[in-house]
Amino acid sequence: MSGSDQGDRWPARERRSGTDRRKPADRRAAATGSPAPESERRRGQRRSSTERRDDRAWQPVLIDTGPLDTFSPEEGLLAAARAAREFAQAPYSKFKVGAALETVEGVIVSGCNIENATYGLTLCAERVALVKALSDGHTVFTRIAVVADTEAPTPPCGPCRQLLWEYCGDVEILLGNLGSLAGRYRLSSLLPLPFDRRLL
Ligand code: THU
Repeated sequence: MSGSDQGDRWPARERRSGTDRRKPADRRAAATGSPAPESERRRGQRRSSTERRDDRAWQPVLIDTGPLDTFSPEEGLLAAARAAREFAQAPYSKFKVGAALETVEGVIVSGCNIENATYGLTLCAERVALVKALSDGHTVFTRIAVVADTEAPTPPCGPCRQLLWEYCGDVEILLGNLGSLAGRYRLSSLLPLPFDRRLL
């Protein structure tokens, strides 16, 4: 096949990559001579960033922007995380983690990590606790404790931080091991500049 044949079969690069940046509705309107209906013209229109940031339809749950309450009793939450850790399904990593999420009503929902042979489908303890709580109808959370058998604290991984932010807001995060509390953070300090639905 000659170069010119190929040229005929494969349109010029500019035409293939499509430099026409008009919305499909506008392109069709230009081609047919009649404007698309309002509903179709609005679809796909991106709101300006100011419009999006002013959207009050959703806000993360900010429980407290002040200093952490160092006197709040955390032992119950840590104990629940330690107890849940015992049920961890971690045959591959052997790294057992327990988590306990506290609701605004004071209910504690716990979880442990659940691994599987594909590795990639592993569920972290934090996410297990979160989905258990959400599926039981809890929607407002104050704290989560995460426990592993390590001296250094085990902080939530990136995906867990994202999900905790979206569903729990700026919760307090207690990191512990089998004997003691090893760290205390606000989620906003572990996930600065979060992406969430306010930016969609
Ligand atoms: N893991 C958790 O469950 N939570 C964390 O915060 C960190 C990691 C689990 C996932 C996996 O089963 C094992 O720990 C090793 O990464």
